[in-house]
Amino acid sequence: MVQLVEEVPQDLRYHAGYRYHASGSAGHRKHFERNARRFLETELTGSDPFIVEIGCNDGVMLSTVAQAGVRHLGVEPSANVAELARAKGVRVLSEFFDERTAAAVRSEHGEADVIFGANTICHIAHIDSVFRGIDALLAPNGVFVFEEPYLGTIIERTAFDQIYDEHVFYFSVTSVQAMARHFGFELVNAEHIPLHGGEIRYTLARAGARTPAPAVDALLAEERARRLSETETFEHFGQTVKRVRDDLVALLHRIQSDGQRVIGYGAPGKSSTVTNYCGIGPDLVPFVCDSTPSKQGHLVPGSHLPVKPPEAFSAPYPDYALLFAWNHAEEIMAKEQGFREAGGRWILYVPEVHIV
Ligand code: SAM
Ligand code: TMP
Repeated sequence: MVQLVEEVPQDLRYHAGYRYHASGSAGHRKHFERNARRFLETELTGSDPFIVEIGCNDGVMLSTVAQAGVRHLGVEPSANVAELARAKGVRVLSEFFDERTAAAVRSEHGEADVIFGANTICHIAHIDSVFRGIDALLAPNGVFVFEEPYLGTIIERTAFDQIYDEHVFYFSVTSVQAMARHFGFELVNAEHIPLHGGEIRYTLARAGARTPAPAVDALLAEERARRLSETETFEHFGQTVKRVRDDLVALLHRIQSDGQRVIGYGAPGKSSTVTNYCGIGPDLVPFVCDSTPSKQGHLVPGSHLPVKPPEAFSAPYPDYALLFAWNHAEEIMAKEQGFREAGGRWILYVPEVHIV
């Protein structure tokens, strides 16, 4: 299991001022609506089905379930985003999910047919307590489904900016299978999904309850062939990360000495890793634009790049835009066509530094 060795306490990360709003991207809204419909058509077809989402955020997934009139509960500790979900008709419990919360949910609502988490399970350091909670809450034939950034993609694409305080775990099919077994569950499916630059959706069931899909063995074999559990893979990754850093910093200096301007685009958690690790401050990139209102007027942690609204991008357009939110490239580039038309170029650093 690849994981952080230092933990930022969860109440410093998730609170009433949590800045990530899942509904901020059209691509995410579409993805999670599709997820909800899939659950409604497959797992939630009994007489009174019940789905629990761990980390429902602003209700991007559960709002579709609520509209369908199906019993559901979001467990969401960040009060501000929980409130946004409630405004969409979603039922939310403002707590951290753990075995204690799970037992309370079970006694009030009964067992769950589906327990879902997206970009949340890898954030929770007390994973043992989460699994004991799943054990307490999940119906005998229920499924625990979670979607998280994939270690294989992080290594393959040198997406080192996925590594930051919120991401405690960097799951692989191998590590998730071992973790599931440890807690009496079985990994019964693993599917690649394109979100956040490359994730896997894991489906777990109680041991022996469901037949594993062939994809599980296929992905395990692929991970063995790619030596995803071997030290040298990570040593090589480390060397590639350093090369990307050097290339990026050299490019930014070259652009600056040519008298041209670079503005950052997007202030995701990832931008904090890149700017701090590479030593990119406001001297090289004077500000970043981000569409999330609660991020605007603040600074990227550590590197202190000011965050401004997207309108600042075109006033006037820079020569280059450094795309920190590269996982939303298609959506952002389509939205900012005027920048290209004005002669602007995008700088990306995944899988290597390049200009498009
Ligand atoms: N599921 C959404 C998505 O995929 O876009 C939101 C993901 S957001 C990055 C992570 C969410 O998990 C936050 O809203 C946070 O408050 C919540 N969270 C963190 N720890 C949690 C825990 N122990 N139990 C439930 N939710 C948690
Ligand atoms: P994420 O990679 O964690 O989803 O964060 C993406 C960030 O990029 C988030 O702060 C919102 C921002 N963003 C924009 O500024 N404009 C956009 O069009 C999109 C899709 C995201």
